[in-house]
Amino acid sequence: MEIIRVNNYQKMSEKACALLTDVIKTKKNPVLGLATGSTPEGLYQQLIEQYSNGELSFKNTTTFNLDEYVGLEKNDPNSYYYYMYEKLFKHIDIPTDQANLPSGVGNDLEKVCQDYEQKISQAGNVDIQVLGIGLNGHIGFNEPGTPFSSRTHIVDLDESTREANARFFNSINDVPTKAITMGINSIMNSKQIVLLVSGEKKKDAVARLVNGEISESFPASILKQHGNVVLIADEAALGNV
Ligand code: PGA
Repeated sequence: MEIIRVNNYQKMSEKACALLTDVIKTKKNPVLGLATGSTPEGLYQQLIEQYSNGELSFKNTTTFNLDEYVGLEKNDPNSYYYYMYEKLFKHIDIPTDQANLPSGVGNDLEKVCQDYEQKISQAGNVDIQVLGIGLNGHIGFNEPGTPFSSRTHIVDLDESTREANARFFNSINDVPTKAITMGINSIMNSKQIVLLVSGEKKKDAVARLVNGEISESFPASILKQHGNVVLIADEAALGNV
């Protein structure tokens, strides 16, 4: 795992943007894996800027997001669809049918999972996957204990994850208890992975990732077995690692 140490959040976002634009400009039909949360917001702003300056087009790009809450409609301000639409999709020229998130509503979520996997493989798999890391080491919504062999599936969210995400909701009681997420094996199928980490509160997670053993009790640890992973982290998150 290559580690790129940067001064701050802005530099992390710029570095990530450079990696993504490289893929978007060089591939005929680029496939991006995208993430939500606070960490990639700066990256999305950078991409929007490049698009607005006429340096980038997303017309041939397909995207697959990592996850979605179960039970939230697309137009719910807390859904990840809404996040992606507001923070990226509505500002760029990506065709709506090329921007994919698993649907968290419907009677047959198992089928949603299978269809999502199929769609990713039909698109030729993800060229570059953006990831954040949870305080407990989760990637996507793959909480500790998730098998490394997992594909897109329904998960029960950890209490710690619900608490961490409660800041976006009126109260913790409103945070969904379930989500649909790409599995760890689905993520590992990406050709390249960019893991973004910023801020002191992620310091312990980064230290455990870099120095700890590979174990299902810390999902992100599997990334060390992927041949093309870049960890871009700022000083505050990296500490003395
Ligand atoms: P964050 O979330 O970017 O909001 O810190 C990351 C994650 O939980 O994967």
